Amino acid sequence: MSVWGHFVAFSKCTALLSLRILLLVPAGLPVHSQGDSLSDNKVMDNITVRQGETLILRCAQGDIVTHTAWLNRSSILYAGDEKWSVDPRVSLVTLNQEEFTIKIENVDMTDEGQYVCAVQTSSRPTTTVIHVLVQVPPKIIDLSRDIVVNEGSNVTLMCQAIGKPEPFISWKRISSSGDLATDDDYLEIPSISRQRAGTYECTAVNDIDTDTQTVDITVNYAPTVSDGRDVGVTLGHRGVLECEADAVPEADFEWYKDDRRLSNGFDGIEIVHTGSLSRLTFFNVSDGDYGNYTCVAINKLGSSHTSFLMYVVIEPTSSTLLQGPKAVQDGNGTAMGVHLDTCLFVIMFIPFLMKF
Ligand SMILES: *[C@@H]1O[C@H](CO)[C@@H](O)[C@H](O)[C@H]1NC(C)=O
Ligand SMILES: *[C@@H]1O[C@H](CO)[C@@H](O)[C@H](O)[C@H]1NC(C)=O
Ligand SMILES: *[C@@H]1O[C@H](CO)[C@@H](O)[C@H](O)[C@H]1NC(C)=O
Ligand SMILES: *[C@@H]1O[C@H](CO)[C@@H](O)[C@H](O)[C@H]1NC(C)=O
Ligand SMILES: *[C@@H]1O[C@H](CO)[C@@H](O)[C@H](O)[C@H]1NC(C)=O
Ligand SMILES: *[C@@H]1O[C@H](CO)[C@@H](O)[C@H](O)[C@H]1NC(C)=O
Repeated sequence: MSVWGHFVAFSKCTALLSLRILLLVPAGLPVHSQGDSLSDNKVMDNITVRQGETLILRCAQGDIVTHTAWLNRSSILYAGDEKWSVDPRVSLVTLNQEEFTIKIENVDMTDEGQYVCAVQTSSRPTTTVIHVLVQVPPKIIDLSRDIVVNEGSNVTLMCQAIGKPEPFISWKRISSSGDLATDDDYLEIPSISRQRAGTYECTAVNDIDTDTQTVDITVNYAPTVSDGRDVGVTLGHRGVLECEADAVPEADFEWYKDDRRLSNGFDGIEIVHTGSLSRLTFFNVSDGDYGNYTCVAINKLGSSHTSFLMYVVIEPTSSTLLQGPKAVQDGNGTAMGVHLDTCLFVIMFIPFLMKF
C-alpha cells in the first residue's frame, strides 16, 4: 500500500502518520500521536452531483495552515496550490486562510468515491472526508428492434437501461389504456394476437430523469373477407361489387365470375384496390354480367373468399321506386333480407336468372 493509500483508511493514527510524511511535517513539529483530541476527522455529508456537472470540493482551513492537500482516494489532486493531478478537469478555485476549494468539471461515474482534504495546522492535522455520489440520468442502451411476427408467436421485447440510481423499467402499449405493467427489462407476450399489435413504449425512470423509447410490433395474419352483399342492378346501369378483407400484410384480391378470372379493363369493368377494399365496377351492366361473383383475398399467410350475386332489378318506375331500390338500400347486409324484399323482382326475372 502506498503512503497515500493510508489516507483511504483514514484511521486517526494512520492519518497522522501519513500527514507527517505527505505534508513533510518537519520532524521537530509536535505531532501528538497520542493526543486524539488534537486531530479532527470529520465525515461530512455526502455530496450528490449529476454526471456532467461541476463538483466543488470546499475545505475549511483556519488557524495557521502549514500544509494542505485534496486527495481522490489515494491520489493527491492538489497539494496546496500545486496541482498533482494530470486530469484537466481538476482545477483550483480558492486557496487562502479560510478555505481550500477545488473543482472537478464534467463529473463522471468514475469520479464517485471518497475525497479527503488533509490539513496540517500549526497545532494539529485535520482530515475531512467527503463522499461523492454521482447520479446518472437513465438511458436506454439496448432495446428490441421493431418486429414483424405471425399471429400466435411468442414475443419477447427487451429494454435495458443504465443510470444511477438504477432505473426502473416499465412497459406499456400506446393507444391502449390496458396497462401491461411489468417492472422487468423483458416484456413477454405469449401467443400474440392481432389485437396486441401496435407500438409499445419502454420507460426507464430514476430520481433524476426519464428516458422513453418505442418498439413497433406488427402481427401478420391471414385474410378474412366480410360476407358478400348481393347487389341488384338495372340493365344498362352502373353496378358495383365491394369486397373487404382484414389482413396483415394487406391482401391481394382476385375476382372471378364463376370459374373465370376477371381482369381490369375486361368487358367494361374496372377493378380498383384501395387498402383493405377491392371494388369491381361495371360501367354498363349487360345481360351477360348477371350472375355469381367470387372475391378472393390472399396474403402470404392464407386466403379467404366470398361470393356475391348480381341480380336483375327492373328499371325503376313510379311503382318500383317505392319498393325496389329501397329494398336494396336497406338490405340488412344479409343476402336473405335482400332476397325477401326483392322476391318480387326475382320472380319476375326468373327466366333471366335461369341463364346463369
Ligand atoms: C453517504 O453515502 C453512503 C453510501 O451511500 C452511506 O452509507 C452513508 O450513510 C452516507 N452518509 C451520509 C452522511 O449521508
Ligand atoms: C478519482 O479516482 C478514480 C479512481 O482512480 C479515477 O477513475 C477518477 O478519474 C479520479 N477522479 C478525479 C477527478 O481525479
Ligand atoms: C410459446 O410458448 C409456449 C409456452 O412456453 C410453448 O408451449 C409454445 O410452443 C411456444 N410457441 C411458439 C410458437 O414458439
Ligand atoms: C350500355 O350498353 C348498351 C349495349 O351495348 C348500349 O346500347 C348503351 O348505350 C350503353 N349505355 C351506356 C350508358 O353506355
Ligand atoms: C357462387 O360461386 C361460389 C364459388 O364457385 C359457390 O361456392 C357459391 O355457392 C355460388 N353461389 C351461388 C348463389 O350460386
Ligand atoms: C336488420 O335485421 C334485423 C333483424 O334481422 C332487424 O331487427 C333490423 O331492423 C334490420 N335493419 C334494417 C335497417 O332493415
